[in-house]
Amino acid sequence: MSLVPFPKHNNTICRNPAAAIAAESGLHQRGILDAEGFANAWNAIRGWPGYGATPLRSLPGLAKAVGVGEIWFKDESSRFGLKSFKALGGGYAVLQRVVREITHATGAQPTSSEVFSGRYGSLVATRTVTCATDGNHGRSVAWAARLVGCQCVIFVHEGVTAARRAAIEALGATVEVLPGTYDDAVRHAAKKAKLHDWWLVSDTSYDGYVDVPRDVMQGYRVMVEEAVLALPEGRIPTHTFVQVGVGALAAAVCAHLWEKWGAGRPRFLTVESDNAACLQRSIAAGRPTPVAGNLDTLMAGLACGEVSILAWKILRSGVDAALTVSDEQVIACMRILARGTDGDPPITSGESGAAGLAGLLTSLNDRHIGDLAGLQRDSRVLLFGTEGATDEGLYRSLIGAGDTAFAASTAGPTPRDQLTDESPPSATKVVPT
Ligand SMILES: Cc1ncc(COP(=O)(O)O)c(C=O)c1O
Repeated sequence: MSLVPFPKHNNTICRNPAAAIAAESGLHQRGILDAEGFANAWNAIRGWPGYGATPLRSLPGLAKAVGVGEIWFKDESSRFGLKSFKALGGGYAVLQRVVREITHATGAQPTSSEVFSGRYGSLVATRTVTCATDGNHGRSVAWAARLVGCQCVIFVHEGVTAARRAAIEALGATVEVLPGTYDDAVRHAAKKAKLHDWWLVSDTSYDGYVDVPRDVMQGYRVMVEEAVLALPEGRIPTHTFVQVGVGALAAAVCAHLWEKWGAGRPRFLTVESDNAACLQRSIAAGRPTPVAGNLDTLMAGLACGEVSILAWKILRSGVDAALTVSDEQVIACMRILARGTDGDPPITSGESGAAGLAGLLTSLNDRHIGDLAGLQRDSRVLLFGTEGATDEGLYRSLIGAGDTAFAASTAGPTPRDQLTDESPPSATKVVPT
């Protein structure tokens, strides 16, 4: 049995009092992400060039080592060559925007392949698509803009790494760097779009801007459906830990699992960086509540201070509990995944992609959080590894540095075995609601 080393941290958890109400009514997702919209995304995206379902990896070695029944890890590191699930959302929303334009101009309802074929090139070639990004969303929008043949301008905040900016530029987009945070860049992109009559394809929603972000979320559901279809017959997960930036991903997962399994769905836990926990804060307050400051975290995709209002409509009652994790804990998870445990396949996961696993290991290393999460020895956990090495240099430096600390870890008790009744809550803070 392997020891799985996991750094201690003053993690916080907020149990959602509204979750019990939702479990009975199912109200939290009705009418927000409808089945028809999802069917459209499912049919369109599966016809795109290069489409293939990403693998759902079973990790029995890790599950045994940490003391749960099963762990499934949906590995998005190869999605469309862009290395993140975001290709599904931004890409689909760009396509939908273009289809609407073509329908408006010609009355036709083109399929994806007709749009990609260039048949409507003259209608879109002079148009510009734009968005703010902390890396992955902008890359997916730039990729789709190139596929459909329009111009693209992407706004990034100063914290986005040079490698992530270069990946967007390599797809033909113009990248503009702005001071401030992701949320500042979102506002700037909206202003520029209005000024220049550009198509704004944002992954976050706010008052008066929900239709495009809804398409983004419908696209994300393709990943969730693939995972559901790949699960072994009759093995519904008991828990899922989903990482949160603005919450669109988590809301898409939550809505989809609700639609599939209703009240029999897995317990739904969200995971944020402790420096950018806007969803946890909102759940504690019972309404969308921003986080100020520089949102400093290695988990670039999660460095968001404001929850998407459309996502909030689902998450406000769909989340059972909201956790925070540290950068150090996420790096530990990236290394665990890269090495593979007791014969599990090695997996390349970027910083934001490993946050769900960090949420699980936090819960298993802290009795109080584990109890709130309701984890048992036979729990079946579904995780979404939402990105691969989206900044390869950074990935290598994080995986390589200090790896010797892990080399000695070949035997010992599981984190759960190590807990006693006196074990921490020491460092746990429960966020009051
Ligand atoms: C790899 C990755 N995972 C998770 C997320 C979080 O998604 P959301 O902002 O919809 O909560 C992001 C957001 O950019 C991301 O890039």
